[in-house]
Amino acid sequence: MKSDQNRRKYLSEYQSPEFTIKSTNLAFELDETQTRVLSKLQISRQTDSLDAPLVLDGIGLTLLNLNIDGTSLHSGQYGVTEYQLTIFEVPDEFEFSCEVEINPAANTRLEGLYLSSGNFCTQCEAEGFRFITYYIDRPDVMSVFETRISAPKAGFPIMLSNGNRIRSGESGNRHWVEWSDPYPKPCYLFALVAGDLARIDGEFITASGKAVALQFFTEHHNRQKCAHAMRSLQKAMKWDEDTFGLEYDLDLFMVVAIDDFNMGAMENKGLNVFNTKYVLANPQTATDNDYLAIEAVIGHEYFHNWTGNRVTCRDWFQISLKEGLTVFRDQEFSSDMASRSIQRINDVRMLRNHQFPEDAGPMSHPVRPASYQEINNFYTATVYNKGAELVRMIHTLLGKDNFRKGMDLYFQRHDGQAVTTDDFRLAMQDASGVNLDQFQLWYQQSGTPRIEISRDFDQAEKTLYLEIKQDPGTTLGKANQPFHMPMRLALFDQQGKAIDLDGQGLLEQIVDIKEQNHRFKFEGIDQEPLVSAFRGFSAPIITGSDLRDEELATLMSCDTDPFNRWEAGQQYATRVMLGRIVSKDVQKPVHPREMLEAYRVILDDDKMDYALVAEMMILPSEKYLGEMLDSVDVHKIRLVREGTRGLIAEATEDLLLKRYEECSEQGEYRVTPEDTGKRSLKNICLAFLLILEKTKYFDLCLQQFNNAGNMTDQIGCLLPIVHFQNPVREEIVRRYYEQWQKTALVVDKWFSAQASSYAKDSLAHIKTLFDHPDYSIHNPNRARSLLGSLIANSSAFHELGGAGYEFVAGKIIEIDAINPQVAARMANAFLHWRKLLPSQGQLMKQQIEIIISTPNLSSGLNELMTASLSTD
Ligand code: PHE
Ligand code: ZN
Repeated sequence: MKSDQNRRKYLSEYQSPEFTIKSTNLAFELDETQTRVLSKLQISRQTDSLDAPLVLDGIGLTLLNLNIDGTSLHSGQYGVTEYQLTIFEVPDEFEFSCEVEINPAANTRLEGLYLSSGNFCTQCEAEGFRFITYYIDRPDVMSVFETRISAPKAGFPIMLSNGNRIRSGESGNRHWVEWSDPYPKPCYLFALVAGDLARIDGEFITASGKAVALQFFTEHHNRQKCAHAMRSLQKAMKWDEDTFGLEYDLDLFMVVAIDDFNMGAMENKGLNVFNTKYVLANPQTATDNDYLAIEAVIGHEYFHNWTGNRVTCRDWFQISLKEGLTVFRDQEFSSDMASRSIQRINDVRMLRNHQFPEDAGPMSHPVRPASYQEINNFYTATVYNKGAELVRMIHTLLGKDNFRKGMDLYFQRHDGQAVTTDDFRLAMQDASGVNLDQFQLWYQQSGTPRIEISRDFDQAEKTLYLEIKQDPGTTLGKANQPFHMPMRLALFDQQGKAIDLDGQGLLEQIVDIKEQNHRFKFEGIDQEPLVSAFRGFSAPIITGSDLRDEELATLMSCDTDPFNRWEAGQQYATRVMLGRIVSKDVQKPVHPREMLEAYRVILDDDKMDYALVAEMMILPSEKYLGEMLDSVDVHKIRLVREGTRGLIAEATEDLLLKRYEECSEQGEYRVTPEDTGKRSLKNICLAFLLILEKTKYFDLCLQQFNNAGNMTDQIGCLLPIVHFQNPVREEIVRRYYEQWQKTALVVDKWFSAQASSYAKDSLAHIKTLFDHPDYSIHNPNRARSLLGSLIANSSAFHELGGAGYEFVAGKIIEIDAINPQVAARMANAFLHWRKLLPSQGQLMKQQIEIIISTPNLSSGLNELMTASLSTD
């Protein structure tokens, strides 16, 4: 059995499907433990191989009935394995029909048809449809769907599927409804929901005047918490019309919020299914970041209607075709709704903290992977976030107008088709005339390229030569060819004034980098200038520059690109901290006087946005610092980083307090860039002040907790206080729980905060939380909030002696038997054992060996653990 699931699939093996399914007719007789699914498929042969059998995917199905063109098949005419149904001989065109029984109540994997809080729902991406019925479960088989749902009236007043509702009726104590989706789609976009849910109505009038009904469904007690998501949806619909001329195509758009969901949300045609985390919000229960994340995910799923659904993927190697592009679109949407520079800073932080490590580890893969064992392991930061960076580079290379032309051509060519990342790139190239041949390497080669920038200034000739060296890295041990990337560039004089680049007032330039070595010449320059390179992070690379400390400090306060101001601070802090990490003596500070002064300048700059000051106060993460090193001593990195935060707190105490007070005046809660920036700066100042461990600041924290009128301010107290062992911590932790124990998403934050504690012996305390009555491994949000935060906690997870590794490995094995997708996500933490100090690495490796020798391990976990041990 496992041997089949564990087989590796290769892009090079792709063959178009032997059969297509013109129409799909499904009838569900819903029952918690014995649901019947009757399907009728109009199938036709596609290829010339006239004797090819019909092979359908199906897992865990009890087959009740099988017939072709109305004649039932006898056992000699077909074969069934654990994964497939094969009909040995079929005509060229026929109606295939089968009936199966499935058990939704026993479905803990949360793919296929399952129950969440007593409601039926489905999750079919990537290969979940095969848990519902026999089908050709691949995205290049597109079909129109008609779905009939029947369920008891009591308990299931709401019954939903894709498209438009066309008929309904009742018989006895059951009722039924029929849905029809006119747009051909792959089965991964199929959805069904049935249960007792509240409906929240809204409307959107499209640019061409069509009224679209918007409906949110949620458990009754949450019905007041959908307003922000509804508004976000309306904004997203408008934005896509304004930005890309894309209108919604059906008369109805539904969103269902579900407690138990493996991912963030799913773009099923006309019926998005969401994790409640990305729908429900009010100021008391959701943080500013939650508000922004909801807007982003609502946008993301809505945007998939065109980039993903109308134009879909040919095969699962092309996930980035829809995900990279759709992440780019949601990032642009969020940038336009709030602050572009803060958005960019957070997107880059995400990339550096998650995608860079992934791309440097044993699961490194190109944006378009060449092979996979378990497709669920490839919904990665590389496919999503680096994929979005590739689309962003194309946008930079083409310019806004040409990019729009490229999008138009893409839809003109491929609407209704299942295509590849090459099709996208070619549409962009053909519409703009910009050659993207070399650019395709970004989709095929993995690893993060490194760029070294150095200056060669000729004072006598008043000429700057800028040297750009590219190290393109490797893919599977093979040297990469150089990448094509855009570099946005500006020069500043030593006083921080922007330099005119062409004598005509040009202050920024975009240059193409294509070779391993470039030399750019700038004339008429009086003194050696500061280089502000890759502004706005114009390429997803690691850069090194020859800027001196004081030059970085100047850029921190003067660069006209807010992103690069932040970036100068990050580079400066990285340099100082790495210096201390590699030095023999942590205690003896390499005293970063100038750096501390630079932080004073930032905190004292009242012309800068609150939000940008706040971002600049966040030091590069432990993860990122580890990425910059060949061998990682996690504890030393943490000590140095925390120590540096302590030095900054001491050096800026007066300003921290001043800023804290300035940002404390509260009006009505609003999620505007100005207000969220203020709250974020206030809470960052509080976190810094607490490091000083003065009674007055603990009191301040408690006072903020007592007066907090919103979740952002409550969490602003809870998160930093968990690191201290004192009565204020005990009080806040206790009262937060008492106040919120009935509200699942808020309790998640409570578990997560405690599991992130750096306090001494925190592992022992975190372990006890797994016995808390509110902990459950069946709910992915809850499991992630506790186990996921423990894994991210360098102090507890990496506790000397390996107790953290052992505990986490045990939990992962336990979860794998229930929900393999969640287990595999968590297991990513074990991929990087080779980079740790040998003493720690060996302890981690022992646990990997225990995991991998567990009987009946899922294919996903098997793939990750095998990769982590492989030696090439
Ligand atoms: N396609 C979803 C999204 O990115 C993510 C997802 C993948 C959800 C697989 C469930 C399963 O919008
Ligand atoms: Zn997506």
